[in-house]
Amino acid sequence: MIQYEKVTKIFGTGEDTVTAVDNVTLDIDKGKLVTFLGPSGCGKTTLLRMTNRLLNISSGKIIINGKNVMEMDPVKLRQSIGYAIQQIGLFPNKTIYENIATVPRLLKWDEKRTSERADELLDMLRLEPSSFRDRYPVELSGGQQQRVGVARCLAADPEILLMDEPFGAIDPINREVIQNEFLRIQGKLKKTIAFVTHDIHEAIKMGDRIAIFQGGKLVQYDTPEIILTQPRNQYIADFVGADRALKVLGIIRCREVMEKSPPNVVQGSMNTKEVLKMMEEHNWKHAVVLLKSRPIGYVTPKALKYEDTEVREIARPYPVTVEEGSVLRDVMSHMLMYDMRVICVTDEEERFTGLVSLNHIQKHLIDIYAEDMRENV
Ligand SMILES: Nc1ncnc2c1ncn2[C@@H]1O[C@H](COP(=O)(O)OP(=O)(O)O)[C@@H](O)[C@H]1O
Ligand SMILES: [Mg+2]
Repeated sequence: MIQYEKVTKIFGTGEDTVTAVDNVTLDIDKGKLVTFLGPSGCGKTTLLRMTNRLLNISSGKIIINGKNVMEMDPVKLRQSIGYAIQQIGLFPNKTIYENIATVPRLLKWDEKRTSERADELLDMLRLEPSSFRDRYPVELSGGQQQRVGVARCLAADPEILLMDEPFGAIDPINREVIQNEFLRIQGKLKKTIAFVTHDIHEAIKMGDRIAIFQGGKLVQYDTPEIILTQPRNQYIADFVGADRALKVLGIIRCREVMEKSPPNVVQGSMNTKEVLKMMEEHNWKHAVVLLKSRPIGYVTPKALKYEDTEVREIARPYPVTVEEGSVLRDVMSHMLMYDMRVICVTDEEERFTGLVSLNHIQKHLIDIYAEDMRENV
């Protein structure tokens, strides 16, 4: 969808030049959100601004949908791409509605369609249309203005969004909210997005893939999981932080590590004696008790010993279960909080699908962690 081929940007002339972007090659696939990550001055903004030709490319090519951007009409190009920036850049003398309507009006949408679209976007970004439409930017908080900035960049429903620290002006708590909101929207809209950030947490959370830059060069381009577990050099390892093993728990989902359909599962209608026999035969230390496919609790051989009833009657309820889509950080947090080594995993309808234990998590982490970092690039 977006292909960067050996893209270079040199500012200045003669003695006094800065290579802001240095021979960068990377592809962003359709429908994916890629984060451009790195410290201030590493060339993220410059790369983004060359994409919609707010800056010219010194050498190399940027190709969008098979077309070289340098051969496209820059005005049309910019109208076809959503662009949101940290400084927000709303027009102060225009109302919120007029700001959002900017590109649709340039594209000559009729007023009704534009108006409906603006309301839809305001709704989506949790800004009540009737109370925000006719206000001016100065009457809004920084965070609210930033939401309007995002609405404006989505207005004409572009396939591609370029977002330069789009949530940078929002306080941490609201940023978390809008990040989640945006991810939810992206889950539906599946835009192709280049998203600049200097915040590793944001890069991990938002990115299908992360491109890490250093001094204008692309140093690693991988999924968040690989960036965290196999940082290619010391610079990246330092940048993602010493706690990267913990960060990775925030992105790996339960379904990737759980034991699916384990054997030690019994139906609630079974008799306790029958279950005890099974457990002894197989040397199970505990068994999950299901009722209509839902885990209602567990039994141990000790608890069954003197009983003669349906096993559901004596099953000890689980204080908590997790869904297959839960991240390991949440799973582990439940394990610690409830002092459980094993937790039942369910699908969205609360039907039992397997078990997850501390052991499973640890094994998975050991598997994916490369002991020796790959040296250099
Ligand atoms: N218009 C410009 N003229 C000269 N140098 C620039 C210009 N814009 C950016 N630079 C330089 O290019 C480098 C990359 O800047 P930038 O892309 O803004 O980095 P980032 O967005 O990663 O913080 C920096 O060294 C910056 O000083
Ligand atoms: Mg920047």
